[in-house]
Amino acid sequence: MSTTRGLEGIVATTSSVSSIIESVLTYQGYDIDDLADNASFEEVIYLLWNGRLPKEDELRSFTQELADHAEIPQAIIDQMKSYPINEVHPMAALRTAISSLALFDESADVMEEEANRLKALKIQAQIPTIVTAFSRVREGKEPVAPRKDLGFAANFLYMLNGEEPDEIAVNAFNKALVLHADHELNASTFTARVCVATLSDVYSGITAAIGALKGPLHGGANEAVMSMLMEIGQVENVEPYIRKAFDNKEKIMGFGHRVYKNGDPRAKHLREMSKRLTGITGESKWYDMSIKIEDMVTGEKGLLPNVDFYSASVYHSLGIKHDLFTPIFAVSRASGWLAHILEQYSDNRLIRPRAEYVGPAKQTYIPIEQR
Ligand code: ACO
Repeated sequence: MSTTRGLEGIVATTSSVSSIIESVLTYQGYDIDDLADNASFEEVIYLLWNGRLPKEDELRSFTQELADHAEIPQAIIDQMKSYPINEVHPMAALRTAISSLALFDESADVMEEEANRLKALKIQAQIPTIVTAFSRVREGKEPVAPRKDLGFAANFLYMLNGEEPDEIAVNAFNKALVLHADHELNASTFTARVCVATLSDVYSGITAAIGALKGPLHGGANEAVMSMLMEIGQVENVEPYIRKAFDNKEKIMGFGHRVYKNGDPRAKHLREMSKRLTGITGESKWYDMSIKIEDMVTGEKGLLPNVDFYSASVYHSLGIKHDLFTPIFAVSRASGWLAHILEQYSDNRLIRPRAEYVGPAKQTYIPIEQR
């Protein structure tokens, strides 16, 4: 048996949800650049789940269905109020809340396709409500109920802040959601597929995926990037900070990628958004610092920014709390996870690889009193 550390380069399944071929990312064959510039997040969810873009009336009713399912049980909110609120990371709260949602869904374990598609719709609709409700509950505020007349991106920002967002914020947030929606067999999507390939339920698959996304080598990197920017503080400090990190052989968060060696196609959109939004807020230092970091990390280490690097300053400019960055990633990536879960169910086989044994051999049991 031979092993490949971290399964690098291993093709573990077939999928028609998204592809990365020669550094070009597509969702169902549509280039991410095209979708980022033109599509609404609702259209992208529909595309990922149905394999085609919706017609006008289909999009209208799909958007309506999402809005109709956006409310969460009061018990989930009450449960949040019982958490040791100041110590709970919102990703942990989200993980628990999705798991709890299953308890309130009598079809949680029903395996028919229609039932699974309805669960997908409910989870996608309710993730924003959970994230925003938690954000408000921990600030001692009441959650804001979702509105049926707002689109997905606008509704998230509305529920978060309790006031209608402006068009610039909605468009930027929509674009960020589109850019994060799916990404082939990334760690959290693989986790979701492994989980449901045992014929476990959709809620378990999403709960598992949230756990995988939470780590700083995956979705948790966007929050870590913002912590780094805050620590650096100003452009003049970039050089010594990064130099010290290089000397200490530390990883610079938001750089590098397992698949993209010539650059992440999503990063340029977020770089552009960061420039624009930090200009609007009058805090261009976040963009200027990011550019300087990129110059150094790419110039000296040959590492390119990934999706998480510029999303940090984008979300910061939208006034979003830093520990909500990764939950927002989950709000978007849920669409991809759910597409992959439905695809896995449609042609399922248990995922069970092997491990090469490197432990001791031929051991003999020694009674405890003789050890
Ligand atoms: N900073 C400094 N050095 C790095 C970085 C980085 N961000 N990323 C990779 N390297 C170096 C490694 O130290 C390693 O060097 P070595 O060969 O001298 O030991 C080499 O580049 C190869 O890196 P690996 O860690 O082996 O690459 P791998 O494919 O396993 O990991 C990963 C990819 C996890 C993304 C890595 O680049 C990393 O840790 N980046 C920082 C965290 C991050 O931004 N994660 C988000 C990824 S995108 C996403 O999940 C949404």
